[in-house]
Amino acid sequence: MSEHLRTRFPTPNLDRLLQTEPLKGAKVFKTGSSSTIFEAGDSLLRLTLQGSGHNFLAQQSAAGNPNVVKVLRNYGAVALSDTYESGPEVEFYWLAQVERLVEIEVGSEPVIEAWLAQFDEDGQPESQDLPAVAQQCRELAQAHKEYAGFMETLALAAEFRGIESMDLRLSNCMRRPATGELVWTDPLDDCFYEPDPAMEMPLNELFARLK
Ligand SMILES: Nc1ncnc2c1ncn2[C@@H]1O[C@H](COP(=O)(O)OP(=O)(O)OP(=O)(O)O)[C@@H](O)[C@H]1O
Ligand SMILES: [Mg+2]
Repeated sequence: MSEHLRTRFPTPNLDRLLQTEPLKGAKVFKTGSSSTIFEAGDSLLRLTLQGSGHNFLAQQSAAGNPNVVKVLRNYGAVALSDTYESGPEVEFYWLAQVERLVEIEVGSEPVIEAWLAQFDEDGQPESQDLPAVAQQCRELAQAHKEYAGFMETLALAAEFRGIESMDLRLSNCMRRPATGELVWTDPLDDCFYEPDPAMEMPLNELFARLK
């Protein structure tokens, strides 16, 4: 969804979204590899192609977990992705209104930074690494009680339904300015998210509605 891609390939679904409330008139605040954060007045809107990440955060936030970004409003899947052609793995644009957070200053969280450094050096966790990551998180939570909630949240991310890989970097966690709490904003890497019919509209209905 980068500017580079948008200028090279047509993105009719994204263009339509940007002409529709609540994104209409919103300004780009930050651009990532598969998400864009928009600013509309005081509110921030996160549009992402990463269904698993979006839904993990939305579900944890709705359950009251303070260690994920607060999803103030979950719009769910709002359009088919512009790159989806065919096949059962449907990709959507997902939209949420989120709370405003601040970057974690490098050097301010040495325990977390030291633990995250292994993924910068050795690569991000793939499916076969996820049980070990969850275990490491729980060990770290035991050893450093101040990080218990933050690390338990990451263990839950490693165990999220359908998850295949993670994106464990300092830029994917942030700080809640009012309290100083650490929160995850984007711990999961891209993977297909099939809506859970217990909580969301089934995939075929969603697809038909957005086609
Ligand atoms: N709630 C928020 N408040 C303020 N800034 C935010 C918030 N969420 C994300 N950002 C900013 O937007 C950037 C991109 O967000 P995000 O990590 O969700 O996108 P991404 O596409 O996954 O990017 P990347 O591939 O670099 O991880 C973040 O690095 C951060 O600077
Ligand atoms: Mg990110």
